[in-house]
Amino acid sequence: MFRTIYLDHNATTPLHPAIRAKLPEWAEFWGNPSSIHWAGRGPKSLYRDSKQKIASLLGVQPLELIFTSGGSESNNLALKGLCEKPVNGRDQIVISAVEHPSLRKTAEALIGRGFRVDVIGVNRDGELDIDGLQALLSEKTFLVSVMLANNETGHLMPVNDVSRRAHAVGAWVHCDAVQALGKIPLHLPDLGADLVSLSAHKFYSLKGSGVLYARRGLNLKSLIDGGAQERGRRAGTENLLSIASFGWVCGLADEILPQALRLRELRDHMEARVLSEISGVKVNGPLGSRLPNTSSMILNGVDGETLLMNLDVRGFAVSTGAACSSGSPEPSPVLLAMGLTREEAQSSLRVSLGWGTTREEIDLFVDELKNVVHRLRGFKHGECFAYGV
Ligand SMILES: Cc1ncc(COP(=O)(O)O)c(C=O)c1O
Repeated sequence: MFRTIYLDHNATTPLHPAIRAKLPEWAEFWGNPSSIHWAGRGPKSLYRDSKQKIASLLGVQPLELIFTSGGSESNNLALKGLCEKPVNGRDQIVISAVEHPSLRKTAEALIGRGFRVDVIGVNRDGELDIDGLQALLSEKTFLVSVMLANNETGHLMPVNDVSRRAHAVGAWVHCDAVQALGKIPLHLPDLGADLVSLSAHKFYSLKGSGVLYARRGLNLKSLIDGGAQERGRRAGTENLLSIASFGWVCGLADEILPQALRLRELRDHMEARVLSEISGVKVNGPLGSRLPNTSSMILNGVDGETLLMNLDVRGFAVSTGAACSSGSPEPSPVLLAMGLTREEAQSSLRVSLGWGTTREEIDLFVDELKNVVHRLRGFKHGECFAYGV
C-alpha cells in the first residue's frame, strides 16, 4: 500500500478521529437552529453548546463570537465590517508585511472606501518593526491589524504590545490568529485585540466554519444581508456540522500544551538532523519565537516546487509556502518581505507537524529529504524535473 505522511498541518489539519465517530450523531440535528419548533431545538442547543465550548477555550463570552465560514471570511468581516468609512479624520489602516492574502487584499479593498493602507516591515527573522509601527501611529490611525502566528514561518508577533500602542492613539486592533489556534495555548484577552479571526479546519475540525471574536459593544456591519443570525452580524443558516466539530475539539484544551511541547521537540529534532546531514540549509525565522510545529527552511540550489513534487511521489505532503499559492511560480511574498532573495524564497520548504505526527514519520521524512536533495543537486539545471515517478 502507498505510504502517506502528512506534514502540511498549516494548510489544513486532518479531522480528529473522535469527530468522525461523532458525525452520525450530529447528522441527526438536521433542523434549522433558528426554527422554534421541535426540529430546531436540538440543533439550537448543539449550536449554543459548541459556541460555549469555543468561548471557554478562548476566555471570552459566547456573545462576542460570530460564526463565519472560516478564516478568510472572518478577516473580511473584521475589516470591511468595521471600516465602513473614515471617521473624524481617521483614515489610516496599518497592517504587517506578512499578512495572509485574505487580510492584505481586504485591507487594499478598503482604499476604495477612502482609507489608506500603511505596511509595517519585518526583519530577516520575520520580526515586526515595532519602532516603525510606533512611528506610523497617530490620531489618523483607524485600525491596526497584525497576525499572531505567520502561516509560513510560524513566527509569533507581539500582538499585545501592538494592541497597547494602537489603543494609546485610539485605534482599533484586529488580529488574525488562524494559525495559532490549537498550536499554542490561546487566551484572547492576553492579545488585547478588539477583533480576532479563527478557523475550524486548522484545528482538526470540519471545513466550513470559523469565528470572528468582536469585543462586546463593538459595532460591525454584516457582509451578508439577510436573516438575523449571529445577532444580525452574519446572515445565513449556520454550518452546524462544522460548528459542532469545532466546539467539540475546543473541549480538548488540556491537550494543546502537551502537544505543543511534544511537537517542538520533534520539530527541533528534525531541524537538527537536516542541518547536520544536509549541507546548504538555513532555517527561516528566530529559533525561539515560533509556532512549535512549524519549520521553514531554505535548501540552497534546490527548486522548492521540484522538491515538493519529488517528496509527494514518495508519499510526503509538505509545502513551499502558503497552500493557496502552491502551483504559482511566484516566490512567497512573506519570504520576500523578510528580505530573502527570489532564489532563496524559491528554494524554501515549509514542514508543519500535527497532533498525529510521530518521531518515526519525522525520521523517514529526513531520510527521504536527504536522498531527494542530493539527487536534485546532482542533476544539472534542466536535466531532470522529477525522478522515480
Ligand atoms: C494566517 C491565515 N489567515 C487566514 C487564513 C484563511 O483561513 P481559511 O482557509 O479558513 O479561509 C489562513 C489559511 O491558510 C491563514 O493561514
